[in-house]
Amino acid sequence: MHTFQPCPIDVFHVNPFTMLNKDWGVLTAGDEEKANSMTVSWGGFGVLWNKNVCSVYVRDSRYTKQLIDAHGTFSLTFFQKDFNKSILMYLGSVSGARENKMKMSHLHINYESHIPFIDEGNLVILCKRLSAVTLTPDTFFDGGIEAEHYKDGDFHTMYIGEIQQLLAR
Ligand SMILES: Cc1cc2nc3c(=O)[nH]c(=O)nc-3n(C[C@H](O)[C@H](O)[C@H](O)COP(=O)(O)O)c2cc1C
Repeated sequence: MHTFQPCPIDVFHVNPFTMLNKDWGVLTAGDEEKANSMTVSWGGFGVLWNKNVCSVYVRDSRYTKQLIDAHGTFSLTFFQKDFNKSILMYLGSVSGARENKMKMSHLHINYESHIPFIDEGNLVILCKRLSAVTLTPDTFFDGGIEAEHYKDGDFHTMYIGEIQQLLAR
């Protein structure tokens, strides 16, 4: 396992737009017995209820969602620019309900305060769930959202997590 150092939040200088939408992150949830990871490109960072928070958006069908709901914690792992993106594509196209994705991708789960994350990452955000809201059509003010993203009724839940710790390698 690699050694990670706690990173003070004041030195967290990133572009959240490219970090998520271009480079992608990996959302991981579970415990020491069973953890699972999926690629994400939607999310955000900010401040809410006087806490540093991170939000992720997870569709009902994702196996990782069951683990966030069961354990109430999750992590986001980010990787070096030269990290093999086909691995992230794999984590984002196969479900952990069917395959052991860690074994198949040769990645490893590490833990901090019992929260699982990907050991091969270089920046990790550890979060405790504060709120979970399912984004259903009655909350949309743009008629195009449902037609474009939810024809199959597989809605996203927005998880707002309090950032517990940042880890850097
Ligand atoms: C680049 C990329 C970004 C993705 N972003 C999200 C996301 O933000 N939210 C989501 O629910 N699914 C997203 N997905 C799809 C999930 O990663 C994918 O369905 C995955 O297989 C779910 O795994 P699981 O069932 O093991 O949890 C993304 C996939 C890719 C390739």
